[in-house]
Amino acid sequence: MNASENLIATEQRLGAHNYKPLDVVLTRGEGVYVWDTDGNRYLDCLSAYSAVNQGHCHPKILAAMVEQAGKLTLTSRAFRNDQLAHLYEELAALTGSHKILPMNSGAEAVETAIKAVRKWGYEVKGVPEGKAEIIVCSDNFHGRTLSIISFSTDPDARTGFGPYTPGFRTIPFGDADAFAAAINENTVGALIEPIQGEAGVIIPPAGYFKRVRELCTTHNVTLILDEIQTGLGRTGKLLAEEHEGIEADVTLIGKALSGGFYPVSAVLSNTEVLGVLKPGQHGSTFGGNPLACAVARTALKVLTEEGMIENAEKMGNYFLEGLRSIRSNIVKDVRGRGLMLAIELEPEAGGARQYCYGLKERGLLAKDTHEHTIRLAPPLVITKDQVEWAVSEIEKTIT
Ligand SMILES: Cc1ncc(COP(=O)(O)O)c(C=O)c1O
Repeated sequence: MNASENLIATEQRLGAHNYKPLDVVLTRGEGVYVWDTDGNRYLDCLSAYSAVNQGHCHPKILAAMVEQAGKLTLTSRAFRNDQLAHLYEELAALTGSHKILPMNSGAEAVETAIKAVRKWGYEVKGVPEGKAEIIVCSDNFHGRTLSIISFSTDPDARTGFGPYTPGFRTIPFGDADAFAAAINENTVGALIEPIQGEAGVIIPPAGYFKRVRELCTTHNVTLILDEIQTGLGRTGKLLAEEHEGIEADVTLIGKALSGGFYPVSAVLSNTEVLGVLKPGQHGSTFGGNPLACAVARTALKVLTEEGMIENAEKMGNYFLEGLRSIRSNIVKDVRGRGLMLAIELEPEAGGARQYCYGLKERGLLAKDTHEHTIRLAPPLVITKDQVEWAVSEIEKTIT
């Protein structure tokens, strides 16, 4: 066994098998590239599920992290630190939000929003205690905690983990009439991904979110957009809601908020919703810590100052055009927005995973999702030459 085979064997022996990674052991990353322990270089077309939008080991984020790590890393929220207020200010200026709650993982941000919106429902909307309902969509992915998997429609995510948290009403994604029909006097919120990432980059019909926004406003329902994957430049806009010409009441961000250096997430909201939380009602030891804040501040700065969002739009269009020009009888659909792209293969193609292994052999890392779909989401710093190279390697693999 060589070194990487040894590492894989040890992982298999000692680790819980809650993931099924491609067998490539990575040791270094820079920009769009990662290297394995045998020295092979790969173009990363997953970006750690869109957490590494700024590219691997961005030097400015690294410098901010190292500097802050040498000064102060954690105070807990029992005391204040000199980074959090700056992060609040910069996030508010960038997104227009009025209240912010920092957490760590994406799932924690989702849980936070659910708690806040339920409390808002009881205290502000006047829903009877214990009756709050939140509308969610089938094929959603919002994380792995018990409440979140309680409203998952994916049997792998949900089966065997009951009893489940009640209070969620599931409707088909992209169906505004179903959304209208699901609202009742106890509906406090709607939790939706602007584009369903894990489901295979599913883009809703044009006008869907406009109608959802109108319905939420009319019925005093809080619209929560989970932009943990779609946000922070991935789709060619800072937030994917901009494509729809709407504004959510609550926006969830995570992943690229730290450029992949550290788990940082946040709930962005108007004053009314997050305003219901009082001392002692929610928190996290690490949420809002100075290291996380310093990293997030720089991650946001490089995202905007280095033109990554504009590049995502331009390179995304170019990538999509390239993929659409591939003639292959195993391709069922090619879709995407910005650098959130997917190739859906015909069921007869025998599953996307084997093609991901084929791509790996050619130096491109991508991940299958939902059996037949190859998702492509490179760091937002990808260049035209790199897109052209990727399209050509993908073409060789699937034709
Ligand atoms: C849309 C969306 N929401 C929430 C999450 C959960 O984030 P985390 O894995 O950081 O808990 C993810 C992760 O893939 C996601 O894509």
